[in-house]
Amino acid sequence: MASRKNTGAFITFEGGEGAGKSTQIRAVGERLRAAGHEVVTTREPGGSSGAEAIREFLLFGGHDLSARAEIMMHFAARCDHVDQVIRPAVEAGKIVLCDRFFDSTMAYQAYGRGNGDPALINMVQSLRDLVRMTPDLTVLFQVDLETGLRRAMARAVAISGQGAPLDRYESADRSFHERVAEGFRAIAEAEPGRFARVASESEDVATITDTVVGLIETFLERR
Ligand code: TMP
Repeated sequence: MASRKNTGAFITFEGGEGAGKSTQIRAVGERLRAAGHEVVTTREPGGSSGAEAIREFLLFGGHDLSARAEIMMHFAARCDHVDQVIRPAVEAGKIVLCDRFFDSTMAYQAYGRGNGDPALINMVQSLRDLVRMTPDLTVLFQVDLETGLRRAMARAVAISGQGAPLDRYESADRSFHERVAEGFRAIAEAEPGRFARVASESEDVATITDTVVGLIETFLERR
């Protein structure tokens, strides 16, 4: 239906390190624009001026925050991003594609860092409810741990030169990333209606883009 094209949507891309989200968000954004949609692509932590400052603090500040404080900082950045960028765009009828959102806080902080501590899971859940902005669709990119971490390492070197430091999450140990992957699996199983899973093992970026564009077009037509 033509009129539906003008209805805004909030779509998030999630996954562990090196799952290919950032490459896909650019490619998918271009394809949706070419199909006539108004698209905003953005990322977390970050996406607004204040939230980008918090990103820098969180990823490269070298501060030893408690797990609860770290969760609050991610949500402080998120509230600014939602209020200043995401909600206005969706209300203006645009499609917002966001690289990570609150599912990353659940996976990285509550599962990865907190090892599934129920108090941290409940905290993230409560803050989620307070943000009052739930994705209409979440695409979860799944990749095996070795491939993902290898890709993330290669990207860090390519962007910043040999020997550039990884951010605090990229440089966490393997068991941390196993718990993150387990967290994403648990969240996707708990909300099957919101999640679409995409296997991103293949190096064929264009095929994955086709799959994701297809998923989003189907979602936009059916809703
Ligand atoms: P990026 O590498 O996808 O840009 O994300 C930056 C890092 O921040 C990544 O390692 C995941 C981490 N992160 C969290 O730990 N919690 C969050 O809530 C978000 C949005 C990201």
